[in-house]
Amino acid sequence: MRLELKDLTRQFGKKTAVQSVTLNIAPGEMVGVIGRSGAGKSTLLRMLNRLADPTSGQIRFGDVDITRLSGAALRHWRRDCAMIFQQFNLVPRLDVMTNVMLGRLNHRSTALSLLNIFTREERLLAIAALERLGIEQTALQPAGTLSGGQQQRVAIARALMQQPKMLLADEPIASLDPLNAKIVMDSLSDINRREGITVITNLHTLDTARAYCERIIGMSEGRVVFDGPPQALTAEAVHAIYGVTDPAQLDESMTSTALSRAGSEPVRPQSEARPVDVMQPLKAYAAPL
Ligand SMILES: Nc1ncnc2c1ncn2[C@@H]1O[C@H](COP(=O)(O)OP(=O)(O)OP(=O)(O)O)[C@@H](O)[C@H]1O
Ligand SMILES: [Mg+2]
Repeated sequence: MRLELKDLTRQFGKKTAVQSVTLNIAPGEMVGVIGRSGAGKSTLLRMLNRLADPTSGQIRFGDVDITRLSGAALRHWRRDCAMIFQQFNLVPRLDVMTNVMLGRLNHRSTALSLLNIFTREERLLAIAALERLGIEQTALQPAGTLSGGQQQRVAIARALMQQPKMLLADEPIASLDPLNAKIVMDSLSDINRREGITVITNLHTLDTARAYCERIIGMSEGRVVFDGPPQALTAEAVHAIYGVTDPAQLDESMTSTALSRAGSEPVRPQSEARPVDVMQPLKAYAAPL
């Protein structure tokens, strides 16, 4: 089913974070959203799974008006569009298996979730998801002891447990070194191609968007200023998105993270990383609506 955004707008006080965005996304597309820091990328993504509510406009998925969902219907929608975050949002003290099985919370009743008892079938699904991501050997380790790249793969495995129609990723590789960034992007791309799951990912580097996404959406000041394949990203298009013609002119103050150049070090020092709310996974998956 097709995802349709119509005149989607989100204001925070006087600030318009996302302004009149109209987009159609077909099932199975791999879409990269790029733009300077503050362009509205995260707000757009968060509106898709209703972590943020639009001020006006509409989101439709097939015949369903996503903007009007509440209660169980909204929980089902959140299950259908699993979200992956820059800081992984795992529960560090819990083992990898348990973290992955938390992805099932929206499939079960609140009572069962609170009891934290998982079925044999769920355990098998979790192992299959970990194998899919090539990290099954970490299953019994506390998630916090894994490398960043492994943790992000655990987060992807957790997302797969939701059996989603769509994966929404907010800068999934911004905290990773280039090798782990490649492993994570390869995993997302592989899931997109093999399972046909739509992937919409915010990315802070143009190179990554070009390499992995068949469709790139460029945002500037809340608006979509580019929408097309990587080949169509001309110098003018780059200028419209970033305000500079040569992406090498961008620096850390302009994008959310430093641009990673070939062989360079991790893009955002951990010390500057946004704080992690360890309860976030539980809130996102199990919050009463
Ligand atoms: N909860 C909020 N309250 C107030 N303003 C907000 C809130 N969330 C976002 N904004 C503002 O909306 C604008 C868009 O923010 P958003 O986080 O969507 O940008 P972004 O493109 O994801 O940036 P970054 O690349 O830094 O992650 C910014 O000006 C930001 O300050
Ligand atoms: Mg953001």
